[in-house]
Amino acid sequence: MTRTTEHHIDMNETLGNVPASRSGVAITPAHRHFFRALPKAELHCHLLGAVRHDTFIALAERTGAPIARSEIDAFYTRGEKPVGVLRVLRALDEYLLTRADDLHRIAYEYLQDAAGQNVRHSEFFWNPTGTVRVSKIAYADAQAAIVAAIRDAARDFRISARLIPSIDREADPDEAVQVVAWMKAHRADEVAGLGIDYRENDRPPELFWEAYRDARAAGFRTTAHAGEFGMPARNVETAVDLLQCERIDHGYTIVDDPALAARCAERGIVFTVVPTNSYYLRTLPPEQWAELHPLRRMAALGLKIHPNTDDPTLHKVDPAGAWQLMFDHFGFGIADLRRFMFNGIDGAWVDESQRAQWRTAWAAEFDALAAALP
Ligand code: ADE
Ligand code: ZN
Repeated sequence: MTRTTEHHIDMNETLGNVPASRSGVAITPAHRHFFRALPKAELHCHLLGAVRHDTFIALAERTGAPIARSEIDAFYTRGEKPVGVLRVLRALDEYLLTRADDLHRIAYEYLQDAAGQNVRHSEFFWNPTGTVRVSKIAYADAQAAIVAAIRDAARDFRISARLIPSIDREADPDEAVQVVAWMKAHRADEVAGLGIDYRENDRPPELFWEAYRDARAAGFRTTAHAGEFGMPARNVETAVDLLQCERIDHGYTIVDDPALAARCAERGIVFTVVPTNSYYLRTLPPEQWAELHPLRRMAALGLKIHPNTDDPTLHKVDPAGAWQLMFDHFGFGIADLRRFMFNGIDGAWVDESQRAQWRTAWAAEFDALAAALP
């Protein structure tokens, strides 16, 4: 392998190992600096999808997990047709996370990595059901450990963060109601709202109406993974109209329902999109992947989209890479990225005075950085 090839692979890894760009947009070192330095919110990242490869290995060694080193390395390899990462998250719950301190470690390391990419604010998902039922760590201890990591990271890396306990939609809907009961019993300022994730197929949002009703009644914010894995726009509609979600994670199939898209655009609902989403890398032809990807059409429909990493260490992408993909693969310009930055602020679950302050400060930083681009 030549040095040039090695270099190519290194660069591509931070971009999710996606097909090469055919857009003709040239990326200079100044652009790379720009994507890294621009002030970012991250609103869609899963704690277990952000575990460092070497931390995974260290945890596996400590617990004596029955996972061969080659299997771990395979977890952290992104093929051209990625199979998805959910089995890796299950393995973490089952074999690697055995005490609350493990959750502190992975949350603190995730926030350190994000802060290193100029993520100023992160709202990240964690599934309590697996932690409590599978890892056998009590909810109170687990949440306290993650909240402590958020506070430690704020002190050490100047990043603010919120935790989004998230429903495992493959589990029974009663487990979801239990998650909200735990959240109510253990309130902390950093625990902002409720999410739902894992495999959407055969697990439509309406199954979880009760948990969402309880969360709303208790004053929690709400978001939902919907319209992922090619699941119908109807799931987005259900998340918005029945569950009354304020944000949508993914939501790609909304492009099949322009009337619904118009309503969501009108309401200013923020869609946290993921350029490296496995489903589209697997199902779209590589040479047309960037062209046919629905997130382009979502923006054209007037929806407020915001780019995210989802499972950064497993997708082989970092926040700078996710933003770069919007620019060099998906055809968005610098002015579009500026709008996406504001969408992230609009969607953040912090008070309006904080958002107003970020709008002013981040816009000034963005504009100074953009002025230095060739
Ligand atoms: N958990 C982690 N990443 C996910 C995704 N992209 N979809 C659903 N659940 C997830
Ligand atoms: Zn996700």
